[in-house]
Amino acid sequence: MTRGLFISFEGIDGAGKSTHIDRVAHLFRESGRVVVITREPGGTPLSEKLRELVLHEPMDALTEALLMFAARREHLVQVIEPALARGDVVLCDRFTDATFAYQGGGRGFDWQVLAQLERMVQTLPDDHLRQPELTVWFDLDPQIAAQRLATARVPDKFESQPADFFAAVRAGYAQRHAEMPQRFARIDAAQSREAVGLDVDRVVREWLKRVGS
Ligand code: TYD
Repeated sequence: MTRGLFISFEGIDGAGKSTHIDRVAHLFRESGRVVVITREPGGTPLSEKLRELVLHEPMDALTEALLMFAARREHLVQVIEPALARGDVVLCDRFTDATFAYQGGGRGFDWQVLAQLERMVQTLPDDHLRQPELTVWFDLDPQIAAQRLATARVPDKFESQPADFFAAVRAGYAQRHAEMPQRFARIDAAQSREAVGLDVDRVVREWLKRVGS
């Protein structure tokens, strides 16, 4: 049976990741794969309710981190694991690296506590830690991201944070990248949308060759 594949997409708000997820889905569907596109926080009815709360209600930093992981647990059990077991390709708009970047980097929440929560929530019955096999990181200067967001919709709790928050979020992503370079592909998101799209295609194709799928 075909092996399931788990790919996540990350970056600060305004980095433009969402537009490229459909492109990757198309690439896999062309080769006959079944693709599940999902997102965090969210991806199940309960996790979407938690998303509403966490994106719009002010709350304590630990509460925020716990709700992110509660939503993730539900998402993992209800959607991601069954899809991977079927051999589908799971494309996830943000996953745990966002918690390290936003709650860890941005909010300054304890990195080690996040690592404990990650183990608690993502360890499978066979003791394997579930992680995306490939994380496409759209890296962008927060100043450019802020300019792009200025013309976008009404900002949520995170999008309305000041530029230094996003500098800290970016540093959080950079730290995760440094800790796990083998699963990260960094993309320069300051390029034109077309150039970013070509880079996304390239990193996904190269990765597929590397893992032999
Ligand atoms: P985002 O993925 O950018 O969705 P949209 O494009 O619809 O705005 O929004 C999710 C927000 O949640 C984003 O600001 C990052 C934040 N977030 C965290 O703070 N921690 C997390 O663990 C996750 C998954 C997201």
